[in-house]
Amino acid sequence: IPVDDFDLVIFGATGDLARRKILPSLFRRFHAGQMPDQARVIGAARSDHDEASFRAFVLEALKEFARVKGAKASDYKAFVARLDYVTLDARGSEGWEALKALCARGATRAFYFSVGPSLFEDLAKRLHKYGLAGEETRIVVEKPFGRDLASAKALNAALARHFDESQIYRIDHYLGKETVQNLMAVRFGNMLFEPLWNSQYIDHIQVTVAETVGVAGRGEYYDRSGAMRDMVQNHLMQLLCLIAMEPPARFEPDAVRDEKLKVIRALEPVGPKDYVRGQYGGDEDHASYFDDVGDEDSTTESFIALKAHISNWRWAGTPFYLRTGKRLKNRASEIAVVFKDTPHNIFGDDAGRHRNILSIRLQPNEGIELGVTIKEPGPGGMRLIDVPLDMSFAEALGPDGEDVPDAYERLIMDVIRGNQTLFMRDDEVEAAWRWTDPIIAGWEERREAPLPYEPDSAGPDDALMLMHRDGRRWREIKE
Ligand code: BG6
Repeated sequence: IPVDDFDLVIFGATGDLARRKILPSLFRRFHAGQMPDQARVIGAARSDHDEASFRAFVLEALKEFARVKGAKASDYKAFVARLDYVTLDARGSEGWEALKALCARGATRAFYFSVGPSLFEDLAKRLHKYGLAGEETRIVVEKPFGRDLASAKALNAALARHFDESQIYRIDHYLGKETVQNLMAVRFGNMLFEPLWNSQYIDHIQVTVAETVGVAGRGEYYDRSGAMRDMVQNHLMQLLCLIAMEPPARFEPDAVRDEKLKVIRALEPVGPKDYVRGQYGGDEDHASYFDDVGDEDSTTESFIALKAHISNWRWAGTPFYLRTGKRLKNRASEIAVVFKDTPHNIFGDDAGRHRNILSIRLQPNEGIELGVTIKEPGPGGMRLIDVPLDMSFAEALGPDGEDVPDAYERLIMDVIRGNQTLFMRDDEVEAAWRWTDPIIAGWEERREAPLPYEPDSAGPDDALMLMHRDGRRWREIKE
């Protein structure tokens, strides 16, 4: 879908997120022909760049993070020619008049706050003070959106003093992932799944977001957050919402977000028996968590597994097992919907027994696979085996299939289009913290230390027990 002419201002344009994600995603959209001829991207940051040095800086970033098939050197140059730069003080007056001069056109205007939350209000205030914001202006904010309910409320209130909720785009980049959006297409675009999508037919659901990286380089942020705040409160929660929500009446921002909110509000509190926290150790090839954060006494978790219950008609009795961690054996994210056994086995125990599992792979190898039980081919007796009905996106997308778009490409273009469906609303973020806060407060009060786990493993053994004691098992973490 084409987008209108726009001016996109990136505050924090020399930061890590801008370099790795925002600018490369804009380049990919530019290369795909989706950036209107007049559209401009304006970098703003404290660093003392001029236009030429900023463009050179972005070129370097693109070389590293935006390998695009078929893109020629001239394409990269044409893209950076669309960039401007202002040195700007978020807390002072420097640069604001210059920014205003650069945004003088009548195009759609969006400001991406790729900075820490402590600057959100300073920026919001100055956008009005310097006459940069109008009714059509949009602002984009990143996580961490608070570290608990109180701070999230304060941030929401601070933004609300300057902008209407309809102008605020809170990014959770998991919502921009191709497979995550496909989850909605699969659920609500097919007759096949929705009638079975409830506790009568689904035994349990597993959500795994496993990473191989440690936290080196961002230890200071991470050690204050931990896996619960960094991943569960936002990304895993969003996945859980999309799996569990009722069909919205329309695929529209508030219709979708209303349904997600109901899911979060229906989550039961999680007690100490229903979670396992872990922290990675080191070996000759890997630094330990302690080494990465530089604190031997840290009790922050780099892994968490938990069992959640949603108390409503659809899901009562079907647990949702969530786990995420750093320095695990493979990078693999998937949602697995594990269906119940058939009510009666007509083939006898010798035939073997299998369950239908719908697995939705977020990364790598994005795709959806449905395990179906069939007869083992051949003249032997009736033996049952599992075969996958496989829909790999890479294949479905054709020969250029490796280019599954990055989450940020979709989300940034949605900001320009003015579509908030894939962005979090204020009440949603607060409800998610309302659920996470007491869990965190619980382990802090009990002074629980996380369990150590080996690098390149599947996390602490106790996480396996979390499912074993329910007669279930985690799926293998494999790429
Ligand atoms: C970020 C977290 O929000 O998501 C990181 O802060 C994490 O700790 C990252 O590594 C994972 O994103 P992705 O897209 O690589 O799965």
